[in-house]
Amino acid sequence: MKLFVVLLLLGMFSLSVAEVVDSFKKDCPQFFFKNNNRVITPTVFTNNKYKQICQFYEGEYWFATLYDTKFKIPVYSAYTYSFIKSRDIKDDYWKIEPQLEEKRTNNNKEMKQLKPEEEEVLRFQAQNKDYKDSGYTKGHVFPKSYGQSDQQKESTFTLTNAAPKTQENNTAWGEQVEIPMLNEIKGNCDQNVFVYIVTGVVPGDNTWLPIKRGGKTIKQGVNIPRYFWAAYSCKSKNNNNIESNAYIADQSTALPPENLTVDRLNIRLTKLYNVKQFSVFG
Ligand SMILES: *[C@@H]1O[C@H](CO)[C@@H](O)[C@H](O)[C@H]1NC(C)=O
Ligand SMILES: *[C@@H]1O[C@H](CO)[C@@H](O)[C@H](O)[C@H]1NC(C)=O
Repeated sequence: MKLFVVLLLLGMFSLSVAEVVDSFKKDCPQFFFKNNNRVITPTVFTNNKYKQICQFYEGEYWFATLYDTKFKIPVYSAYTYSFIKSRDIKDDYWKIEPQLEEKRTNNNKEMKQLKPEEEEVLRFQAQNKDYKDSGYTKGHVFPKSYGQSDQQKESTFTLTNAAPKTQENNTAWGEQVEIPMLNEIKGNCDQNVFVYIVTGVVPGDNTWLPIKRGGKTIKQGVNIPRYFWAAYSCKSKNNNNIESNAYIADQSTALPPENLTVDRLNIRLTKLYNVKQFSVFG
């Protein structure tokens, strides 16, 4: 009888974890690769520190992020590309995700700009000050340059879509991955349907920006990632096949990023994240 109760409780517990896991599919499936109409998200880690965010700004969803509330960086952001020509915008102000701190309601689902003194209370995400004078920039995970409208570009300026990167690494990533990958997409993909893209990071072993909260310094504040990676998947412009490719850059070296198949990337990420299996497009 007692065992039964324990099993029941365990069952309920895993059920509530699974609900969190399912919310990408429920609330913003549009940003994820589909296979025969089945929504395929990249692997979602189940530890409770990971939160699925459907990024909501000015009344619309613009992309999705799996966020690590303890390391205060994303695991990945997922988004689509649809070949719309859009103008560049100035850098927007950096916003935060209210629902990581508060109970979820319909009134706080939009990302928000806070005053510096209001940010001091943020426990489950990075704030602007954490990066200030750290020697690191807020490296976009979903890049502004891939945004398809002013609003979508502005929506990329949320701290839940950023991870510490040196300016040098940021520039190199733009030149060696963001620009060539977009050219590859334009060369390979059918422009009448969505291209699915995921960009992510792998945390650094023991590399952190120290942060301050409530007057106290936290040494392991914001993790400085070791790797940035990106992958796309689309319908070929020439036939019914799927085109895909991926990149991964080790931030600790001056070497150019590796250009690899999505299958190879999955193998690398499975090792790097130290999980049974990691898969970007299922
Ligand atoms: C990335 O940054 C590290 C540390 O500043 C530097 O040693 C390395 O050369 C950089 N790599 C690239 C490709 O910019
Ligand atoms: C990466 O590899 C793909 C497939 O081999 C190729 O089409 C693409 O041009 C390469 N990208 C770069 C930046 O070298």
